[in-house]
Amino acid sequence: MAITSIIGGQWGDEGKGKIVDILSENVDIVARFQGGANAGHTVIIEGNKIVLHQIPSGILHPECKCILGNGMVVDPVGLFEEIRMVEDQGIETANRILLSLTTHIVTPIHKAIDKTSEDATNQKIGTTCKGIGPAYMDKITRKGIRAHDLLDLPSLKQTIDHRLSEAIKNNEVSKSAVNQINADLKQFYECVPAIAELVSDTFQYLHSIIHQGKNVIIEGAQGTLLDIDHGTYPFVTSSSPNNGGITTGLGIPQSHLDRKIGIFKAYTTRVGKGPFPTELFDGDGDKLGKLGHEFGATTGRPRRCGWFDGVAARYSCLVNGFTEIALTKLDILDNFDEIKVCTAYELDGKLIKNFSEVIYKLDQVTPIYESLTGWSNPVENIDHIDNLSNRAGQYIHFLEELVDTPIKLVSSGPERHQIFTREIS
Ligand code: IMP
Repeated sequence: MAITSIIGGQWGDEGKGKIVDILSENVDIVARFQGGANAGHTVIIEGNKIVLHQIPSGILHPECKCILGNGMVVDPVGLFEEIRMVEDQGIETANRILLSLTTHIVTPIHKAIDKTSEDATNQKIGTTCKGIGPAYMDKITRKGIRAHDLLDLPSLKQTIDHRLSEAIKNNEVSKSAVNQINADLKQFYECVPAIAELVSDTFQYLHSIIHQGKNVIIEGAQGTLLDIDHGTYPFVTSSSPNNGGITTGLGIPQSHLDRKIGIFKAYTTRVGKGPFPTELFDGDGDKLGKLGHEFGATTGRPRRCGWFDGVAARYSCLVNGFTEIALTKLDILDNFDEIKVCTAYELDGKLIKNFSEVIYKLDQVTPIYESLTGWSNPVENIDHIDNLSNRAGQYIHFLEELVDTPIKLVSSGPERHQIFTREIS
């Protein structure tokens, strides 16, 4: 039996979808525990690109069931469309997607509030406008709608009517947006019956599967640096995309997690606003963005790009207690003669090695880099990635020493087969 968690170590978009897809081949369940349609997990199978937003990446393996856990905020309209998209690809979904009774629901009102508050503020977060923050806000203020509410449509309509009146009264949405919200609500109600069929007691089911000793993968969305508590607040998402969030978001104690994999890109990217110490504004940044196809899978926005930030990554390993790392997109660095890695920050003449010390003033730090020589071969052609006589191997070794966590998987391209497993004793 193994329960494996797969968590983003940076600001999201680390390539979690591909790693979940590869590791879920002989897995009974893939479960998500936080976030919602703000996620965009891209998997490429034989050149065919599939982007999943709410359905766990395990859906691509026919024997695997997928749980949308209580810690998520689920948009029924998006989920309905995503199920159709997946079925159009020839993937059977019947009886394979389970939505927790207590998962909170995103309505068109939440999406409108998200947009209104982003438009109105001077301190823009750059949200995905998928209604994530407003839905979590309603959850925390104890007026949220949960998946079991989808089972009683007349009562659901009453609750939503009341919430819309309140949103208008409190100027959470503009009056001009109300017609569109009502049109979107019509579509929302059309999707409700199909989504209501997915609702069940996933807590009991998950624990019975664990009790039977079956294999489970827990799939994180976003990344640790976007965590509401441990991230670069306020430029974060509204959930806990770290291992700690699994306990509340699925009801699985930490002691059940056998393998905790942190996913890190071989460099760093960020979408939306907020500090990013190693961000590059030069040709190298453009090159990373271009070669890495760095555009948000959900919003299409260009991702900001920079070198690997070892200070942030070490912090992320501490927050999560990763037992190992999967390093993705190493092939993108094939094209660089010199590769830099941030090993510390400098602030007011002081050397900073602890991310937590400066987390509230990251925009003031200067990264201190160590330079490594690039490798001239495509990394995909290397026989033994752990061979330290090659420079790609040296780069990996340098990173794992820096973050004090073994790198056991290395992805060298978007396809399923483009992956190295490193033997580390
Ligand atoms: P929200 O999650 O839509 O509220 O957005 C809050 C912040 O998290 C914004 O900076 C988004 O760009 C960022 N964000 C949300 N989801 C993702 C993701 O899946 N990948 C990367 N960034 C994300």
